[in-house]
Amino acid sequence: MTSGSRFWGAAAAAASLVFGAGPDPDPNLQAVQIVCGRCHTTKVFLKEPRSWERWNDVFADMTQRGANGTDEQLERVTTYFLENLTLVNVNTSPAEELTGVLTVSNDVADVIIARRQKQPFANLAQLAAIPGVDREKLEQRKSRILF
Ligand code: HEC
Repeated sequence: MTSGSRFWGAAAAAASLVFGAGPDPDPNLQAVQIVCGRCHTTKVFLKEPRSWERWNDVFADMTQRGANGTDEQLERVTTYFLENLTLVNVNTSPAEELTGVLTVSNDVADVIIARRQKQPFANLAQLAAIPGVDREKLEQRKSRILF
């Protein structure tokens, strides 16, 4: 199964190319509040990381209940969830989740995948040693980075 949203396919693909959340107020979080805060408070999900697959199930469920937004808003929502609320497994997750959660380029994700096929990553330090991986982001996101 691919990791891109099965429902917001194009938005998810584009979102993996969007880097950084920008200065505050975070425009991606603003989009989450507009798109996902319409029917209930965003507190129902803002503190609970899940796998990308599980988020896609939630997006599908909410879409059925009437959640919607512009392409740009949905792209921002996707980026926000990947960067802030999604769990990734460095040794098993597909490239799209690595780029989204770690905020690395496709090339860097390919290097991570090539490396793990030879020898699985054991810890954050090994991941941080890959050129192009941002140590500061890893440190911020380490609770969501699994091995
Ligand atoms: C059109 C209204 C509506 C919008 C917009 C909406 N939701 Fe919901 N959401 C609901 C309803 C209704 C429930 C309660 C479902 C239940 O109790 O089973 C719910 C429940 C939830 C839950 C708790 C259930 C679960 O699966 O854990 C989560 C998480 C959630 N929404 C996330 C989101 C996210 C993320 C967005 C934005 C992409 C969003 N919602 C947008 C209507 C909406």
